[in-house]
Amino acid sequence: MSEQRWSEVDGYIDALFPPPDDALSEALARSDAGGLPPISVSFAQGKFLGLLAKMHGSRRILEIGTLGGFSTIWLARSLPRDGVVITLELESKHAVVARANLDHAGVGDLVDVRVGPAVESLRELIAQGVEPFDFIFIDADKESYPQYLELSLRLARAGTVIVADNVVRNGEVVEASSEDGRVSAVREFLERAAASDQLEGSVVQTVGTKGYDGFALLVVSG
Ligand code: SAH
Ligand code: DHB
Ligand code: MG
Repeated sequence: MSEQRWSEVDGYIDALFPPPDDALSEALARSDAGGLPPISVSFAQGKFLGLLAKMHGSRRILEIGTLGGFSTIWLARSLPRDGVVITLELESKHAVVARANLDHAGVGDLVDVRVGPAVESLRELIAQGVEPFDFIFIDADKESYPQYLELSLRLARAGTVIVADNVVRNGEVVEASSEDGRVSAVREFLERAAASDQLEGSVVQTVGTKGYDGFALLVVSG
């Protein structure tokens, strides 16, 4: 089955379940115009993330890796009125674009964009003793996924859902001796998650406009 067909099916899905307004397309256009890389989740994947958060009744969401706020908008739109997304981004240039996109989408009041290395922002959140998050989306630099998992667990409670993007990597995840540091880090992330007696999980492989990849789905058991 060809990549072209995967994209055609994404087009079909997007036409069946269109977003409620143009804010999401405009967010991508503004991200492109601002020189951000085109590495957000797809429309169908953004909707999927929002649905997972909504199905879980999430009120407090943590996102690691904001880019232009495309996935953030989907997550924020899944929230009840008193909900909040805290999203962490290294690049201030990305955060500026994300802030404009979130405000334009009408969810600016629900979202706190924190600029800096996510490991530091996570440690600050832990030090502040913030209320645990209901839903955590990991999507920043792949090399840090093992650390993001460990720190996320310190911001979680029994029942917290953790979703991580890009864990299949065009199938390269099966290459135990890969010299790509992103592949070895994602493998370490998955192996630690699988070995943890605090987590239950699986991986859902995905295809579409973003190629062949996958989401890790984890739930904190206690
Ligand atoms: N979640 C976004 C895509 C995120 S792309 C979406 O689907 O719409 C990954 C983002 O992580 C990039 O914006 C990159 O700048 C950011 N990033 C990379 N390393 C980081 C780090 N150490 N701390 C925080 N963010 C980081
Ligand atoms: C990259 C990062 C992502 O989060 C993604 O979904 C695709 C690509 C990257 O860094 O290349
Ligand atoms: Mg990603």
